[in-house]
Amino acid sequence: MTNATQGIDLGLGGKSALVTGAGAGIGREIARWLARAGCRIGVNDIDPKTAAGTVEELRKAGSEAISVVGNVRDEDAVATLVGDVVRAFGSLDVAVNNVGMNANRPVTPLLELEAEAVRDVVDQNLVATTICCIAEARVMAKQRSGVILNVSSGETTRPSVGLVAYGAAKAGINHLTMSLADELGPLGIRVMAMAPGTTLTEKVREVFSEEHIAGIVQSNPLRRMTEPEELGRMAVFLASDLARCVTGQLVLADAGAHLSRNRPANADP
Ligand SMILES: NC(=O)c1ccc[n+]([C@@H]2O[C@H](COP(=O)([O-])OP(=O)(O)OC[C@H]3O[C@@H](n4cnc5c(N)ncnc54)[C@H](O)[C@@H]3O)[C@@H](O)[C@H]2O)c1
Repeated sequence: MTNATQGIDLGLGGKSALVTGAGAGIGREIARWLARAGCRIGVNDIDPKTAAGTVEELRKAGSEAISVVGNVRDEDAVATLVGDVVRAFGSLDVAVNNVGMNANRPVTPLLELEAEAVRDVVDQNLVATTICCIAEARVMAKQRSGVILNVSSGETTRPSVGLVAYGAAKAGINHLTMSLADELGPLGIRVMAMAPGTTLTEKVREVFSEEHIAGIVQSNPLRRMTEPEELGRMAVFLASDLARCVTGQLVLADAGAHLSRNRPANADP
């Protein structure tokens, strides 16, 4: 029997991890937590400055990190940055496809929605995530091991008015996750999705008024909102050996928002 004082080996020491959109927000926090768990991190962002900022912070904390700048909507850029991580660290063990969001578009009622805006949101969320999964799975299939974590949204559990394209694109990510888990499982690859509720990132604090945030807090069963670092903890758990029998799952980290009957409109930016 294991001695309770021995501690728990997460199985992440020395593993190679790629996190997309890790220059800010949830992605940066996931990169921090995977680094704390012992991973070497490929920090992707479209913005070279913020990617460099995350790399510098991780290195100062004693972790190995490299910057792999690129737009994850672009297939060639993704192939290059995945290749750069493998060249630097020798493998790709964990891949977190975090880039998404409503592509900085305002909330739009269905009757005012234009096809170009729908394409943009689907591209930023579903297409980019799919492109990343393909490039990552090609490497992991050769290794016969790996973990892919896609960042979805609590929006997929209950629709909000004005977020139809975003919700549909994220729901597509949930299905993609199940399909890939089924197809890639025999190759030793686990695939999961994490669904944040409205999360207190810098951007959310900028966009939402204090009253709106207070309304979300009040409507959530836990009477709080998701903190970015809670997605970091979740990523470590799902990527680790603690979850080694888990695949094809959507895991919510939303302070119970999916149970709430009186959530304010458009709670997910
Ligand atoms: N914040 C929330 O409340 C919330 C809720 C549910 C789901 N999510 C999901 O969590 C993920 C992260 O959201 P966030 O709030 O941390 O976003 P954020 O805007 O704070 O950070 C996103 C990062 O991704 C980078 N980025 C954007 N487009 C890119 C691209 N094409 N290629 C490479 N990098 C790119 C940005 O430069 C930025 O650093 C998204 O998928 C989002 O849909 C967020």
